[in-house]
Amino acid sequence: MQTSITELVGVADTEASLVALGNEFGMALKSGVVVYLQGDLGAGKTTFCRGVLQAFGHSGSVKSPTYTLVEPYELGKQVLYHFDLYRVADPEELEFMGIREYFVPEAICLLEWPEKGKGVIAEPDVELIIEKHKRIRRLRFLGRTERGRSIVKGEFSKRMSKGE
Ligand SMILES: Nc1ncnc2c1ncn2[C@@H]1O[C@H](COP(=O)(O)OP(=O)(O)OP(=O)(O)O)[C@@H](O)[C@H]1O
Ligand SMILES: [Mg+2]
Repeated sequence: MQTSITELVGVADTEASLVALGNEFGMALKSGVVVYLQGDLGAGKTTFCRGVLQAFGHSGSVKSPTYTLVEPYELGKQVLYHFDLYRVADPEELEFMGIREYFVPEAICLLEWPEKGKGVIAEPDVELIIEKHKRIRRLRFLGRTERGRSIVKGEFSKRMSKGE
């Protein structure tokens, strides 16, 4: 796993190392943070989320909430919402399900396919872009708010450089 800092870039060449990266990122997260996960079908967004959830004590598999749109997790004192908006045709659907109520300071929100919720979902603190090159996954973490930048360039990058 290699990293460098501006935004933060990571490379995972196995599914296990992508989960491990998600785990490290999860350790750096704070309540109220909104994370967008971007990348093609099969890029590894859900796999990465499994690592994030493990950081909060989740041990099972992580199902993609493609039809239900959101899967809630209550892990210890932390609530996390994992969204998969792939099937959303119109962001208005999300208004109807009351999506705004999920973006609260007590929760961490992880969103796959956030572009489908444009205008309705909260702005991201951190944007993660996953690029797939055969079995290699290249990850770019972009801090989009003060809080997001302090995670990416602070806690997360500290954790990453310790692991090298
Ligand atoms: N280096 C790698 N890291 C992660 N996953 C890998 C890697 N190489 C191959 N894979 C495979 O890629 C797939 C990633 O699937 P995943 O469900 O995490 O993608 P996703 O981005 O959530 O897709 P979707 O948009 O359909 O929700 C898995 O089947 C995994 O086994
Ligand atoms: Mg997925």
